[in-house]
Amino acid sequence: MLDQRLKHATAVAPATIANVAVGFDILGFSLSEIDGATGLSDRVRVERVDKPGVHLVEISGDDALIQDLPTDAEANTATAGLVQMALDKKLDFGLEVRVFKGVPISRGLGGAATSAVAAVVAASAVLDTPLSLPERFKYALLGETLAAGQPHGDNVAPSMLGGLILVRSMDPFDVVRIPVPHDFGAVVVVPELAVDVRLSRAQLSETLPLKAHVAQSANLAGFITGCFRDDRDLITRSLHDLVVEPQRAPTIPGFAEVKQAALDAGALGVSISGAGPALFALHDFRARKGQIAEAMLNALKQAGVNARAFHSPVNGLGAHIIERGPIL
Ligand code: HSE
Repeated sequence: MLDQRLKHATAVAPATIANVAVGFDILGFSLSEIDGATGLSDRVRVERVDKPGVHLVEISGDDALIQDLPTDAEANTATAGLVQMALDKKLDFGLEVRVFKGVPISRGLGGAATSAVAAVVAASAVLDTPLSLPERFKYALLGETLAAGQPHGDNVAPSMLGGLILVRSMDPFDVVRIPVPHDFGAVVVVPELAVDVRLSRAQLSETLPLKAHVAQSANLAGFITGCFRDDRDLITRSLHDLVVEPQRAPTIPGFAEVKQAALDAGALGVSISGAGPALFALHDFRARKGQIAEAMLNALKQAGVNARAFHSPVNGLGAHIIERGPIL
């Protein structure tokens, strides 16, 4: 009888746009590499080995991207969750992990979450009993928490599941897929600046005036209703972050001009991706995405900032296995 278990598996996980303007820490969507763009996903290969424990044996990718990443399995965001999982499951075998880093970190694209998600999805595939979705979420979140200081699931959940996801609760695990109009896309511009997500979160005001809470709740409800109804005008009216964007915008040179340029070029809404500095502009078939990207890059250039632009659908794939091999 052949052993059906897997010896090794490789998973790919996409970068994400967290917050989506109106859902700080609770809304996010996955990005997909199209038009030949690279750098919007991470890959992780996990192999079962005899020696117990989690062994981070390789981190590859752009030198500039990986040079500061910890090589200790407990300290690396890709493997921290696997270390805890191996303890919880009392694994009597080990996991050898190879990380290929494609998503830049400290750019607002969920770069810590992507490798954590890819690692957990690959590891789950080689276990005797795969992890449940809430378990995969929990262990990937441990990696994300290492980077951000506080747990927030708006990168992990969309990277794992794909598309636009609402994280109603992290514990108990409760996430909801929001339907996205099929022709929705995002222009993502990534300035050559780094934002420390821990610092950025620590600088946010802990209190919120009741009026702002009311207005922001109305925008969140309007955006989600607009997605369910495919009501683009409602989406445009609602996609305004009155709480976090005003606090973070000053860290991005030329933010107001970039936003206005994208709106003038036909975007439905524009905001900061995660803690930034990346920005996203949501658009549909009526807009010309090339013009939106050009307008945003030009406005950033005027502010003295170089940036790259990506195009992505909003309804992309979540993490999945791209390679596997059996125990022979
Ligand atoms: N929701 C998080 C934040 C995303 O805005 O701080 C950061 O990865």
